[in-house]
Amino acid sequence: MENNRDSEKTIIVGATGASGLPILVQCLKIIKQAQGVRSALIMTDSAKLTLEHETGMHYSEVAALADQVYDQKDIGAGPASGSFKTAGMLIVPCSMKTLAGIHSGYAENLLLRAADVTIKEQRPLVLAVRETPLSPIHLRNMQELAMIRGIHIIPPMMTFYHKPETIEEMTYHVAAKLLEPFGIEAQDYRRWTGL
Ligand SMILES: Cc1cc2nc3c(=O)[nH]c(=O)nc-3n(C[C@H](O)[C@H](O)[C@H](O)COP(=O)(O)O)c2cc1C
Repeated sequence: MENNRDSEKTIIVGATGASGLPILVQCLKIIKQAQGVRSALIMTDSAKLTLEHETGMHYSEVAALADQVYDQKDIGAGPASGSFKTAGMLIVPCSMKTLAGIHSGYAENLLLRAADVTIKEQRPLVLAVRETPLSPIHLRNMQELAMIRGIHIIPPMMTFYHKPETIEEMTYHVAAKLLEPFGIEAQDYRRWTGL
């Protein structure tokens, strides 16, 4: 039986097959450093494929960064139910396919079901949606989901104002922004303090 005694502090971290898997890796590392929060990882099969392509890492290496791991096919697992308490869910990166699934309530795998549950329980849901260019369908799905309380549409966009010198610094900045809605302050996050 799954134990979810400390699950108020559990963030479900979903990952899909969109580009941006290095950001997932960074998010898991930041959660690991943060006090009083745990990560429960759900990766789709496409995410595992894109992970190897973009980072050279194997799924098992990323899974080792998470506190708990679920198979996307395990639709009987804790995150499939609202009675499994969590601090919300982050999907990084979030594909247009998964965005459409969330928009329509089509919960055909554990990741989509967990997102559906997060919405019905009115918990924070952060979507690091990634595609370019964006079609009217993508934009409609984002716009309509953004109207729901608790949903944060945070595309992983490049920023330059904090003067990043490496891709890693840029990735860190994006990851830190994605975790802000959960009250996590990343140690090396360089906030804007004015000119
Ligand atoms: C290298 C690579 C990069 C991709 N990048 C994106 C992307 O940025 N956005 C997107 O919506 N789909 C992207 N895709 C396509 C998705 O992986 C594909 O639609 C997949 O079915 C998504 O399934 P999932 O949401 O269940 O993970 C990419 C595919 C590959 C192989």
